[in-house]
Amino acid sequence: MTVPIAIIGAGIAGLSAAGALVKAGHTVHIFEKGKGPGGRMASKRSNAGPLDLGAQYFTARDRRFVAQLQQWQAQGCVAVWAPTLYQAQGGQLRPSPDEQTRWVGAPRMSALTRAMIQDLPAVYGCRVAEVFRGKEYWHLLDAEGESHGPFSHVVCAVPAPQAATLLAAAPKLAAVAAGVKMHPTWAVALGFDKPLQTSMQGCFVQDSPLDWLACDHSKPGRDSSLDTWVLHATSEWSRQHIDLSHEAVTELLYGAFAEIIGCAVPVPTFSLAHRWLYARPASNHEWGALADGDLGLYACGDWCLSGRVEGAWLSGQDAARRLLEHLE
Ligand code: FAD
Ligand code: NAI
Repeated sequence: MTVPIAIIGAGIAGLSAAGALVKAGHTVHIFEKGKGPGGRMASKRSNAGPLDLGAQYFTARDRRFVAQLQQWQAQGCVAVWAPTLYQAQGGQLRPSPDEQTRWVGAPRMSALTRAMIQDLPAVYGCRVAEVFRGKEYWHLLDAEGESHGPFSHVVCAVPAPQAATLLAAAPKLAAVAAGVKMHPTWAVALGFDKPLQTSMQGCFVQDSPLDWLACDHSKPGRDSSLDTWVLHATSEWSRQHIDLSHEAVTELLYGAFAEIIGCAVPVPTFSLAHRWLYARPASNHEWGALADGDLGLYACGDWCLSGRVEGAWLSGQDAARRLLEHLE
């Protein structure tokens, strides 16, 4: 019998690790608490069509990620998004073009993680509560009290605060994960019947409750009957308003948006708020991934490198590399 490797979390880090392990001939089994893959790169289904409420776009600076992107582009699950960019600072709005190539999943952000997971065995709606060692192998206990296993190794690909609990069997790794602070982000989507009278498609914002806003349907392949916008609050504002109702957050961020955008903003016909509790690590690290090769426990995620899509993918690659090296 081949004992599979458990991957906890179907975000891009977990799927990156899973893909590399499968490529090396291993069997993996993925456990995800959400309804599908994607994590912070998931797209939210809504009356206004699918919306990218988490990751907005990603850049590629590492040659390995650049090479991977070329493959995804050939598969058709990513595309370049070249928005008309602005920046808003101290109440002043001005165009802010640059040369940076920015990528998005196409026709929605979640298309990328859907393509990555393919037909790998995965269980959704399964929140893993505990990772424990049996006589010889690892087992997982989910929040419903059901146990899963056996597994030869476990890769925890979840945000650091959640990894800290799951890594209890490896106290050193758990302590490192517990030391990583992650900041929240409130996201709001708005939909307007008529397009707003602006050429802006993305805007980096300072001196406001918001730090980013984007015209969601300006991204390639997005099909919506409404003019859809996604607004992100700063970490600080999100922390200060963490327990505010969705309605109140929508109202406040709509107000901040109307102040910035420099054109008339009617009442939206659609609105939606989403709170990301663990949106971004407070700082970057250079760990690649965390590993206890003798135990067979690994952790990866954006928090092990940079709090970006590229960092998460690279971290998953690193977890897989270290696991494979330990087997040699
Ligand atoms: P995640 O995507 O968080 O995946 C972890 C998965 O584990 C999730 O699916 C979760 O449901 C699952 N999980 C957690 N606990 C358990 C458990 N106990 N049992 C089972 N499953 C569990 N990056 C960029 O590069 N560009 C951007 O523009 C950008 N904008 C962002 C905007 C926002 C609002 C947010 C929130 C993030 C943004 N990011 C951006 C960051 C980027 O989304 C993340 O760095 C990346 O998606 C993290 O991937 P990951 O696999 O490490 O974690
Ligand atoms: P990037 O290179 O486009 O942006 C990095 C930063 O540079 C921007 O945040 C912005 O401050 C500045 N910048 C870039 N281009 C600019 C321009 N034309 N005009 C003015 N300022 C500009 O992308 P990178 O490095 O891949 O970063 C990812 C993005 O994801 C960042 O914007 C980051 O803030 C965001 N992010 C948001 C999270 C959240 O929870 N809201 C979590 C993780 C990342």
